[in-house]
Amino acid sequence: MKQRINELKERFASELSKVTDKQSLEELRLSFLSKKGQVSLLMQELAKIPNEQKKEAGQLINSFKQEVSARFDQKLEEMKKLEEECLINSAESYDESLPENIKKGSYHPITLVQRELEDIFGSMGFDVEDYSEIVDDYHCFEALNIPKFHPARDMQDTYYLSTRNQLLKSHTSAAQNSIMHKYGKLLKENGRPIRAVFPGRCFRNEAIDACHENTFFQMEGIMIDKDISISNLIYFMKTMLSEVFERDVTVRLRPGFFPFVEPGFELDIQCSICGGKGCPSCKNSGWLELCPCGMIHPNVLKYGGINSEEDPYEYTGFAFGLGLTRLAMMKYGVKDIRTFNEGDLRALSQFVSR
Ligand code: PHE
Repeated sequence: MKQRINELKERFASELSKVTDKQSLEELRLSFLSKKGQVSLLMQELAKIPNEQKKEAGQLINSFKQEVSARFDQKLEEMKKLEEECLINSAESYDESLPENIKKGSYHPITLVQRELEDIFGSMGFDVEDYSEIVDDYHCFEALNIPKFHPARDMQDTYYLSTRNQLLKSHTSAAQNSIMHKYGKLLKENGRPIRAVFPGRCFRNEAIDACHENTFFQMEGIMIDKDISISNLIYFMKTMLSEVFERDVTVRLRPGFFPFVEPGFELDIQCSICGGKGCPSCKNSGWLELCPCGMIHPNVLKYGGINSEEDPYEYTGFAFGLGLTRLAMMKYGVKDIRTFNEGDLRALSQFVSR
């Protein structure tokens, strides 16, 4: 009996090592532990052996049974763990709570617009930068020429954290200072212009309605080099918008105030619905406000380590803050901004990239 059990032990170990999926593991388990399995056969044999050997043989069979079932459980656990890891690592992890009828995932409309813009700006030599959502007062305001108690802070009331003077960024401009520090050396030592776009989620303490959300997306862009002028700004904005709307767009600049640009503008595009004649979509003005922008304020360039006190205009640059959420609304004809954050798949799964 002892020898039989040892043989079976070896057989079990070798077969277990060959198992690669749950089904063959289950088959192996049945071949050893089911009613007609090897362990039951041993039990039947137990009846035939002399009485004085029964006790020892019974114990041997029992401990063999326990060992088999423990090793089986262990293997199953390992396989489950491996499966979970694969699922997490693969792009195909899925949400089990999804309704049956939604089989294929789709990108969020803001992701689609963001990626399209990243491609367009990438093709014009811009780096795409990522930036945190939690920032400090210095980066969100002070470094942007918005000192404490400046009235411009009123429009950007946001959510403050109780620690370390931190807040949820109210605009993507909060990344400007860090990006200037990151690329300033390359600009000054190698003459490589700073060209960067940085998309991101922004937060403001807003009264929510069809056009306002407390959470929305912007895409900021800056370009800094010697002799950068408003013409460069207009060129890049026009090129980008013509790509996005797939037609030649007419733009205009109006004065706009932002403490971190001088001069500052509101960039409007001619309404595509009425061709500039005036209609309800453009509130009869013929223009749609799209993107605030301007030439980066000398103080901001100074705080970013780009220019020195002595030569505050050595390098110049432009900045723009495109409302990604707004752009997605215009591009896809979404009338209510809340659609984007509601997570209703009936609405969100309709959008496909071109
Ligand atoms: N950060 C500004 C806002 O969110 C927009 C802006 C960006 C204006 C860059 C000018 C230049 O209101």
